[in-house]
Amino acid sequence: MEKRKLGFSELYLTPIGLGTWAMGGGDWKFGWGPQKDLNSIKAVHAAIEEGINWIDTAAIYGHGHSEEVIRKAIKGRREEVIIATKCGRVWEDNSLEIGKSLKRKSIKKEVEASLKRLGIEVIDLYQIHWPEPAEEIEEGWGTIADLIREGKVRYGGVSNFNLEQLKKAQAIHPIASLQPPYSMLKREVEEEVMPYCKINEIGIIAYSPMQAGLLSGKFSRERASNLPQSDWRSRNPFFLEPQISKYLKKVEKLKEIATAKGISMAQLSLAWVLRRDEVTAAIVGARDARQIKETVIAGSLVLNELEVNEVEQILSL
Ligand SMILES: NC(=O)c1ccc[n+]([C@@H]2O[C@H](COP(=O)([O-])OP(=O)(O)OC[C@H]3O[C@@H](n4cnc5c(N)ncnc54)[C@H](OP(=O)(O)O)[C@@H]3O)[C@@H](O)[C@H]2O)c1
Repeated sequence: MEKRKLGFSELYLTPIGLGTWAMGGGDWKFGWGPQKDLNSIKAVHAAIEEGINWIDTAAIYGHGHSEEVIRKAIKGRREEVIIATKCGRVWEDNSLEIGKSLKRKSIKKEVEASLKRLGIEVIDLYQIHWPEPAEEIEEGWGTIADLIREGKVRYGGVSNFNLEQLKKAQAIHPIASLQPPYSMLKREVEEEVMPYCKINEIGIIAYSPMQAGLLSGKFSRERASNLPQSDWRSRNPFFLEPQISKYLKKVEKLKEIATAKGISMAQLSLAWVLRRDEVTAAIVGARDARQIKETVIAGSLVLNELEVNEVEQILSL
């Protein structure tokens, strides 16, 4: 798989990165239902074996659990992977409540905890998870810049920032990457944010590129209505009526394009995200080795103009 330079940084990423939100398990507010650590570890190993060279996680995923699983999975293999994690969402032990803090003191504490859980000396890409609380953005981003100077972090990135928030942070310290939601069903960043990132050499790493599995080609109305309560998607409008039926109808039509090209729906949805040159990579979630083995193939696929136009037609219906 080719590697792409992330913004102005010296990080070279494979177009598919491994997303590990679901590996946080189901025991917290935004869990993905039951998830076995052994399957998560196998997925990380499969990703590395397939050539994926970076992993995205966050402290909050399973309240530290996803980072701990990654430590176990990359033991003795640190040199093979670039590690991206996030700060800004905080919790107290034995509480399901999630707090928001970008205060210097809080981020300094978070970085030490993440380094320990991940079992690494330096975080390759440290990202502000959400621009919240808004009045703490400058303090939070200034702290990330300090952590880079201190050598605890190699590069700083942001996630879920809009244009105005990007400008605010960029004025303090150069942003290496933006992690926004981007999929066939969620395209808000195309208008203002992508052009700004291109001009300012900010790499885009797109999250939920299959809209949390909805575009995997394997989702159904039955599955959506039977999601366990411990899976956050059971409460998400994308997975509820009337949206779910509307989206699944589009997926059925999109599948015809995938079939004609000899690829799967999951691969089509990822190749579509990667068609934009502003997008350095897609962060693709996986719960087991089989899933990532299917989706990694999208890193080497290119859609032609006709295929892109056909997708566009279906999305506009
Ligand atoms: N910065 C942020 O605020 C933010 C927000 C969201 C995500 N992220 C990051 O982006 C990553 C990816 O996003 P995401 O996990 O939300 O969504 P995604 O990549 O669009 O979808 C991942 C989910 O799709 C299903 N799936 C994956 N491969 C499949 C396959 N081959 N066949 C069938 N189903 C498959 C799995 O769930 P099921 O098998 O259960 O259906 C998997 O958990 C996250 O893990 C996280 O690292 C960041």
